[in-house]
Amino acid sequence: MQRIKTLLIAVALTAAAPAFASGGHALTYKFEPDSNNIQSAQRGARNFMNYCSGCHSMKHLRYGRLGQDLHIPDDLLKANLMFTTDKPGEHIVSSMPATESAKWFGQAPPDLTLETRYRGADWVYNYLMTFYVDPSRPLGVNNLTLPGASMPHVLADLQGWQVKVEEHAAEGHEEGGHGGHKGPKFELVQAGKLKPEEYKAFVTDTVNFMHYAAEPARNARISLGYKVMLYLFLFTFLAYLLKKEWWKDVH
Ligand code: HEC
Repeated sequence: MQRIKTLLIAVALTAAAPAFASGGHALTYKFEPDSNNIQSAQRGARNFMNYCSGCHSMKHLRYGRLGQDLHIPDDLLKANLMFTTDKPGEHIVSSMPATESAKWFGQAPPDLTLETRYRGADWVYNYLMTFYVDPSRPLGVNNLTLPGASMPHVLADLQGWQVKVEEHAAEGHEEGGHGGHKGPKFELVQAGKLKPEEYKAFVTDTVNFMHYAAEPARNARISLGYKVMLYLFLFTFLAYLLKKEWWKDVH
């Protein structure tokens, strides 16, 4: 009995984990990463290298591996994605010194290789969508998904600036594209270079890339899994035919 109780508690805690990870409140936007969309991950790699890698590393991923998996030839890889090294065998390491950045931001920017596995891809999508103007914060910006975040809104020139408008969750609010919208609503007070739909696509690409980076072998693993299952089915069928053949004279 004790064992069953422990098991039930463990299951309940696992189910509650995403709620804890998101700071206890539900995420505003729904998001499903798309592992099969290589073009999106390619654009995401470009976004990441241009807008994030100045502060964040992906130290478990090598440039060469990224190029191979996302079908980016070496010359394009070097010209467009590799800013701090010219060796494809190197890991993606930010040039920002951790001790200094901790002083500047109050927090050192964490390594993001496994971020989507740690927080969930939907959490990261929400994080990048929910920076909003908040004059009470040192940088004038807060984040609904990670309240009190010390990261500046580095995509503000693309998204523009939005303010948070409280809204009763019960009223509901339909958002095109990525499904439902819960909780506070945002209103753009200063437009960015991208239209809201384009900004969503930008964030989608970036998170698809991070989702790839968190498990580069995902697609190979899944296709191998299908092949193994197909083999097992075929083999079972052959074994069945063989059994019929062997036993046909016995009855
Ligand atoms: C100017 C430096 C800087 C840049 C550029 C930057 N970040 Fe950050 N980022 C930070 C800092 C500092 C934190 C730590 C925030 C905290 O914990 O308060 C952070 C935190 C994060 C987190 C949350 C980590 C966690 O789980 O708590 C994510 C996700 C993230 N950044 C993604 C990105 C992405 C994606 C980009 C590019 C679009 C980016 N960052 C660009 C400085 C930066």
